[in-house]
Amino acid sequence: MAKARTTAFFCKECGYETSKWLGQCPGCRQWNTLVEAPVRKAATAAGRLAMTGASVKVGAGAGVVGGEKRPKRLSEIEASGEHRVTTGLEELDRVLGGGLVGGSLILVGGDPGIGKSTLLLQVCRNLAGNGHRVLYISGEESLSQIKLRAERLGEFSGELSFLCETNLDLISEVLVEEKPEAVVIDSIQTMYREEAGSAPGSVGQVRESTNTLLQLAKGCNITIFIVGHVTKEGTVAGPRMLEHMVDTVLYFEGEKNAPYRILRGVKNRFGSTNEIGVFEMRNDGLSEVKNPSEYMLSGKPEGASGSVTACSMEGTRPMLLEIQALVCRTNFGMPRRTAAGTDYNRVNLLIAVLEKRAGLHLSDCDAYVNIAGGIRVNEPSLDLGIVMALASSHRDVPVDDKMMVFGEVGLSGEVRAVSMAEKRVQEAAKLGFTTCVLPRVCLSRIPKAPENLKLIGVGNVREAIDLIG
Ligand code: TYD
Ligand code: MG
Repeated sequence: MAKARTTAFFCKECGYETSKWLGQCPGCRQWNTLVEAPVRKAATAAGRLAMTGASVKVGAGAGVVGGEKRPKRLSEIEASGEHRVTTGLEELDRVLGGGLVGGSLILVGGDPGIGKSTLLLQVCRNLAGNGHRVLYISGEESLSQIKLRAERLGEFSGELSFLCETNLDLISEVLVEEKPEAVVIDSIQTMYREEAGSAPGSVGQVRESTNTLLQLAKGCNITIFIVGHVTKEGTVAGPRMLEHMVDTVLYFEGEKNAPYRILRGVKNRFGSTNEIGVFEMRNDGLSEVKNPSEYMLSGKPEGASGSVTACSMEGTRPMLLEIQALVCRTNFGMPRRTAAGTDYNRVNLLIAVLEKRAGLHLSDCDAYVNIAGGIRVNEPSLDLGIVMALASSHRDVPVDDKMMVFGEVGLSGEVRAVSMAEKRVQEAAKLGFTTCVLPRVCLSRIPKAPENLKLIGVGNVREAIDLIG
């Protein structure tokens, strides 16, 4: 019999497993990310089996594992009726697909300092306030530091306890004994199991720890939030390699110097992944931004050329944003083009379309495009907005302040249909816009235009930029 492997190489970024060292990870194409770590059968196909064993060991048996070992027909399986628990934050509930599902494992990733601990402490406070038993386990902060943070957030009530611990074997014992309904692990990179042998934060430890938490979540029906820091480089394993193990992956994004934060669902076994939640970081913690359109447009200059309001769909919710463009004569042989908050190549393509299909001479101009507010969007429906912002700046003629624009632009300069046109139009009407420029083909999909909003259908970019001024 061949000797069983005891170690393998794992990618720090995506968790790709290989038996020999490689310079470039075949999974995520990053260089120098493979590190050696002990193999554990549970991490591979045998994971489910190991999980059964563990749940028997902890004496729970409930959840997805345990019980009779016989394949069942779909008709024989009883639906347990989906029960969702609200987190008390509407923005988070929506990203989760309507609230928390019992026994789920949720990864909250993000750069250090973005507000993950704050968000989860607020969730704990809300859950405890609604009568749930909650445990917050921190491996990063001392109890007194947590207390300081909690004092900034306001009143706490209900059964919320705190524990400073990094040893997962001890944590497992506590969880099995206490059986809280929800647990926060802050952060996975500080946790370790003696069995795994390597340093906390290493690939082996992070995988091993997550596996243990997975067994606890499913076996004891505890909802577990795992905090994972996104790391640019270094020896600490990133949260991406855990994505396949957990039920839900949320990323907390935002510019460090801007106050708002976006919570994005990247994977969700219990809901859609396109939703985002918008929060604002204040002195007293994170507050929800219920109407992000208003928020995103709050600083829009009036009567300025190169500024256009466009609409992007974030999941089921339309969000109006300001697109800014600046076109000026280049001082060098090679014109400079930059795109902040959107795809650089897309902007270059749209500049080429304007040049060729609308006769704008941009080849001797620098062009800078920015989505105001630091948010990142890649939806094709922004194309028409980008094109109009560029044309407006090039001519130095402002676009009507009360005009909202959306539509995809094709290589022939045609303006193509986009989805959910009606919702976008309604959002524009709600925010007091008086004109909406949209693809002509979308007009037929809007049975009744909102009052006080004029719809202008355009077929190509030339028609659209003729509306400027
Ligand atoms: P934190 O939740 O500690 O980030 P993470 O856990 O993702 O590393 O957030 C830290 C930042 O949030 C810190 O720079 C201070 C700021 N903050 C506020 O602005 N207001 C508050 O009420 C709190 C608690 C933090
Ligand atoms: Mg933290």
